[in-house]
Amino acid sequence: YGCRGGLIALQVGVVAFLASAWMHNHPEEAVLGPVLPEAADGRKRVVILGTGWGATSLVKSLDPREYEVVIVSPRNYFLFTPLLPSCTVGTLEHRSIMESIRYITRHKQGRFRFVEGECTKIDPENKKVIVQDKSELHGATTESELKYDYLVIGVGAETATFGIPGVKEHACFLKEIWDAKKIRSRLSSCIESAAFSGQDPKEQERLLHMVVVGGGPTGVEYAGELYDYLDEDLRKWYPEIADKFRITLIEAHNNVLASFSKELISYTESTFKDNKINVRTQSVVKGVSPTEVTIKNPQGEIETLPYGLLVWAAGNTARPVVRDLMAKFPELQTCRRGLSVDDKLRMLGADNIFVLGDASASKYAPTAQVANQQGKYLAKVLSKVVNAEDPSKALQVIKPFEYTHNGSLAYIGSEKAIADLPLFGSNYSTSGPMTYLFWKSAYLSNLFSVRNASLVLLDWTKKFAFGRDIARE
Ligand code: FAD
Ligand code: NAI
Repeated sequence: YGCRGGLIALQVGVVAFLASAWMHNHPEEAVLGPVLPEAADGRKRVVILGTGWGATSLVKSLDPREYEVVIVSPRNYFLFTPLLPSCTVGTLEHRSIMESIRYITRHKQGRFRFVEGECTKIDPENKKVIVQDKSELHGATTESELKYDYLVIGVGAETATFGIPGVKEHACFLKEIWDAKKIRSRLSSCIESAAFSGQDPKEQERLLHMVVVGGGPTGVEYAGELYDYLDEDLRKWYPEIADKFRITLIEAHNNVLASFSKELISYTESTFKDNKINVRTQSVVKGVSPTEVTIKNPQGEIETLPYGLLVWAAGNTARPVVRDLMAKFPELQTCRRGLSVDDKLRMLGADNIFVLGDASASKYAPTAQVANQQGKYLAKVLSKVVNAEDPSKALQVIKPFEYTHNGSLAYIGSEKAIADLPLFGSNYSTSGPMTYLFWKSAYLSNLFSVRNASLVLLDWTKKFAFGRDIARE
């Protein structure tokens, strides 16, 4: 018996050793964690995915006494995206445009539960979501499942790469705080390396060539910020290389800023010309290597442009979790942009799921303004529907979502901005330094907290007094 016992112990030991070695070698394998228990008082549960524009606007307007609210997001803060391009060159510090979701919900303390994790699967049949804790602190990724009575999807979108080779690997995106930090750091590397004594002139030329792909508002605003950095700081701190700094903006269509009025498109293109930003329209990126971007030019020829920094701002596409859910409704969910919804933001095919912001495919543009208004609207819908005896009947008496457009604004560099504003039923276009002041005041007043507004104001003052902080990120 002693011998058999020893053998069994040995076998158990070997199995345990092999299992632990396997886990060690497969850190991505999930360990199913605990399930968040249902509310003790039997309240219905609303799970909100995301802490972006749509979800945060909803959370601010909700009354969490009516039902249990659980917010799930991989980031525990709201990000004011309109000012993100300013963080890439140090006009603003990134923390100034971030606000903790716990701070935002502080007045309703204890009434929201926040789970920092990424929703990887939505199971509409069993009304549950799978959430992964992606923390780097553990060897293995912990998974947990979360049941819901109602689900709100506000996960936004990711940057589209259209499967173009090399984009994912070599380009920088501009969507999240970590993207802006990566760009700032890469910009520093390019400049310091170009300034390195004895640097090969050809390599210096490549390192100082900044390429932006996408002439939408993100690409244009980033190119504008880069120009300011060159004009106000690079010339001062690196006079020996400043004249070699080049900015190229590549756009597939005939012109940049397709959603703005013709007048403002011409104004932007002429401002960029004055600022020596090379705008290459009708040029389509076909591939990206670590040092070169390949384009098809208007003549149909293939050209390669050496670059130091490549920022990719070519538009949005649906996130994997959204695509996975769409695949469960192949007949109803056919729009590649995101989840199709009815006029009350209810997902087609799933009565208990609402979708807002960039994750949805509606007739509206994927903007912060739309997501913000949808969040407020959805708070009203949920308060009527969640505890109703007949939710479909309750939904019938609610007016459909109507978007009110308050205008489009964009910063284009050299203290100039453009604005298309709705005025008495028609469009009023304005541009230049006065519009820049309007742009500044509009964004300052739209920041979600007084704390953020004070920090942004302080950063602008600091930049005015001392210039940008050019220390490496
Ligand atoms: P987001 O704000 O992107 O939020 C998505 C949230 O979901 C995030 O919290 C994210 O962490 C979370 N999330 C992601 N995946 C998961 C998951 N699997 N599970 C759970 N949570 C998840 N619009 C304007 O109207 N005006 C502007 O000036 C403007 N400027 C912009 C500047 C830049 C640089 C960018 C990138 C965008 C800008 N936009 C602007 C567009 C605007 O930011 C978006 O339309 C808006 O953020 C959409 O809101 P959302 O809530 O749908 O998504
Ligand atoms: P976008 O979709 O508006 O623009 C992307 C651009 O990239 C398009 O013009 C497209 O033609 C171009 N493009 C795509 N593939 C290309 C390729 N292979 N080669 C060359 N060019 C290519 O995307 P953007 O700018 O990121 O904006 C996304 C949304 O966010 C929009 O709805 C926009 O209105 C909103 N937004 C608004 C801002 C503002 O109002 N100031 C600022 C930033 C974003």
